[in-house]
Amino acid sequence: MVTEITSRESERKMLADAGYGAPAIDYFLEKKYMGHIENASQVSEKIGSCGDIMKIYLKVDDNEIIEDVRYEITGCAGAISAAMAAVDLVKGQSLDHALGVNDGDVFQALENIPEKKHHCIQLAVKTMHQGIQELKSGNK
Ligand code: FES
Repeated sequence: MVTEITSRESERKMLADAGYGAPAIDYFLEKKYMGHIENASQVSEKIGSCGDIMKIYLKVDDNEIIEDVRYEITGCAGAISAAMAAVDLVKGQSLDHALGVNDGDVFQALENIPEKKHHCIQLAVKTMHQGIQELKSGNK
């Protein structure tokens, strides 16, 4: 138990030293929206310029309100924290509101992230927008 806490603390310190803000670190360590949704309204996938892959699962009600979102991610800490923060920004909101959420909003929610990881935020946001657009166009 003590070892577990210590390793978590050292991971936290390593990420902070690398330039991750406290919320970004929490999102990465908790990974609260990681996984898939059974009977999702939409499943979409995007490959980033770095070669990492994100898959998004959207669950939407009849009024186009986003009930739930999950990401499956083969990618870095930046990608994971950005995707988890993006979910908090769109859950319970309309599809149109979610389409208006941008990289700057996610960056703000993370407080900070290393500059070389900014493209990971883009991947999280682009994957979400692609999922919404494909859902709207009926392209499952
Ligand atoms: Fe590929 Fe971060 S390096 S998503």
